[in-house]
Parts: sequence; structure tokens; C-alpha cells
Amino acid sequence: MHQVKGVVARAKGQPVELVTINVPDPGPGEALVQVQACGVCHTDLHYREGGINDDFPFLLGHEAAGVVEAVGPDVTGVAPGDFVVLNWRAVCGDCRACNRGEPWYCFATHNATQRMTLAEGPDAGTELSPALGIGAFAEKTLVAAGQCTKVDPAARPAAVGLLGCGVMAGIGAAINTGAVTRGRSVAVIGCGGVGVAAIAGSALAGASPIIAVDIDAKKLAKAKEMGATHTVDSSSADPVAAIQELTGGFGADVVIEAVGRPETWKQAFYARDLAGTVVLVGVPTPDMLVPDLPLIDVFGRGGSLKSSWYGDCLPSRDFPMLVDLYQQGRLDLDAFVTEEIGIGDIEAAFEKMHHGDVLRSVVIL
Ligand code: APR
Ligand code: ZN
Ligand code: ZN
Repeated sequence: MHQVKGVVARAKGQPVELVTINVPDPGPGEALVQVQACGVCHTDLHYREGGINDDFPFLLGHEAAGVVEAVGPDVTGVAPGDFVVLNWRAVCGDCRACNRGEPWYCFATHNATQRMTLAEGPDAGTELSPALGIGAFAEKTLVAAGQCTKVDPAARPAAVGLLGCGVMAGIGAAINTGAVTRGRSVAVIGCGGVGVAAIAGSALAGASPIIAVDIDAKKLAKAKEMGATHTVDSSSADPVAAIQELTGGFGADVVIEAVGRPETWKQAFYARDLAGTVVLVGVPTPDMLVPDLPLIDVFGRGGSLKSSWYGDCLPSRDFPMLVDLYQQGRLDLDAFVTEEIGIGDIEAAFEKMHHGDVLRSVVIL
């Protein structure tokens, strides 16, 4: 058992607290990880607001890199001393999806079996729910060994840890789900962390043009730095007409929706080429409905309407590849790290999310 500091959301809507937690030694199939860096994601805030589920208290944090300290008895994939990026979808390797070669659709993903617990306060001993099965705003955390992917140990933890969630979702929406390749036209609607990552992924794949759409001029400036060739401010211009005009009247081969709203998905639907692909990577809320569309417009367009969950990634394939591209200077993951902060500064980082100046605040441990 290890006693370490961790950031816990004890009750709905309450500020997070830095407390002492108990982290068990790894059992079968588990790994104990010394966390080195962990990004602050909107999903952490959703947990603390009770927007995901009511399984309080939560141990927050899930976009992390660190070093394996110990592994359980039967673990062979990683070993103590390995530098790893954590993922929230440890695939089983043996379900119907895994067996047909589509492990990103695995429906038997797993986390650590043992639970971390609160070590102080009146509720000491209470089991913690780790955010996305990770819980990495902590000096050490316990995960399933399959949640650890070994990457180049020379890489900067604050940058590569971000591959654990939003940056992978965006890059994967482009290169995995959208199958973006050289010369394909891409439009990305919504240029927050996820959308900008989709732009970086499209640039990496050689897409042209890469059209960034947002209602915020600051986001469009950042999108341009990350590889967008054109920008459209949809607070003043019609994004569908603008995308068509920039693609010779056809619409984009791939339109990536990275907001998660019906009206922007509808823009994506009409802004694609007749044989184009729409990729929905923004996460809608449960009350949102598919917008009204004449069925003839669906019939009249070929192509495909897809969604991308976690960038349809396979961590064991995609994390080492993207870390290598980063190390070679071909993928600028540093650009996503707006600031490095201490483990006590998470509430301040949540506050900054609302102002739109920060792509990612990253906690350094
Ligand atoms: N049209 C275009 N852009 C919009 C619109 C709109 N109507 N509304 C919002 N945006 C832009 C915002 O200005 C912002 O730049 O969408 C972007 C959303 O970015 P973030 O809030 O930073 O969210 P991000 O982390 O990128 O995630 C995007 O994916 O993972 C999910 O839950 C996440 O649904 C969210 C989405
Ligand atoms: Zn599986
Ligand atoms: Zn996240």
C-alpha cells in the first residue's frame, strides 16, 4: 500500500481537494505508475459537476504519462522503469470486435480491479472512482497493465501524456476515422483542443486544403499555427458556402465536427463533397437530436456519416508512432501545452477553460 497525494472531487459541484489517498500494490494484470504529467481536460470538470455519473468521490485526471513502478504477478507487456502513456481503453484482445481486427470497438475494455481509497477525513477508507479508470492527478495511480503503452523515454511527459485523451481523439478523427491522406480536402468545425489536433493530424497526413472553422478569432489564429491553410469565422460567414468555395464548389472530402452540437453537425453534413465523409468527434449531450434533414438530401449524397470515439485509436499502435513523429519534430505536441501547473492549481485551470485562451494546462508531478 502506498500513501500519496491526489486530487479528489468529493461531492457534486464542490471544489476539488488535494488529499492523501491509499494506492494498493498491483495485483494480477495491474501496474502501479508514478505519474509525471497529467493534462486538465473538460471531462475532469464534467466529473466534478456530476455530469458523468454520481459515483463520488472521484480521483480526477486521465491524460497522463509516467514511469511504471511495479507490476502484478502475471504482467508481461510492461515492466518497472518503463516510460508509458496511459489510455482509457485497454482492449481485451478476444471479443468479437477484437477478433475481427477492429479492437477500437472492443466492448470488454477493463481497468484495475483493486480500488484506491481515501486515506484521510471522516470518509477515510471510501473507495475512489478514478476518472476514465485512470485517476492520474496523483503522485501514483493503479491501472490495468493494458492501459500502459511504452513510448520513447526521451520524450517530454507533459506533451506526450496529452495523447491519452483529447489530442489522440482529434488526430485519430482525421487519420483513423476520416482516413485522411495526402491531397484530401479537410474542413474542421470547432477549433478547441480536439479540433486543432484534427488539424495537426490532417497536416501530418498531407491534406490540402485544411479549412478551420470557428466562431472565435483566437481559435482560428491557433488553428493556422497548427496547419490550417484557410480559416472561416462562422460568426460572420456561412461556413458551408465558404468551405464549398475553397474546394472548387464541391465541398470537403472529410469534414470533422469537433463541437458536438446539432447545428454544427448539420453544417458538416452539407459542407462535404457528395462522396465525402463526415466525422463527428465532438461529444453531444444526451438531449440533442439529429437535426431535421430532408431524406432526399441524405439519399442524394453518398459518402459516409461516421462518429469517432477516442479517435478510433489503438494505443499500442498509435501512441509510439505519434511520439516518434513528435520526437522527430514532425508533430508539434508542445503547442498543446499552454502552461505547466502544480497539483494544487486544478481549480484555477478549470476556471481558465471558460476563457478560451488555454489549449491545455498540464499538471507536473
Ligand atoms: N461553430 C463553430 N465553432 C464553435 C461553435 C459553432 N457554433 N460553438 C463553439 N465552437 C468552438 C469554440 O469556439 C471552441 O473553439 O468549438 C470549440 C470547442 O472547443 P473546446 O470547448 O476547447 O472543446 P474541445 O476540448 O476541443 O472538445 C470539443 O469534443 O471531446 C469533446 O466534450 C468535448 O464536445 C467537446 C468537443
Ligand atoms: Zn475486445
Ligand atoms: Zn480527456
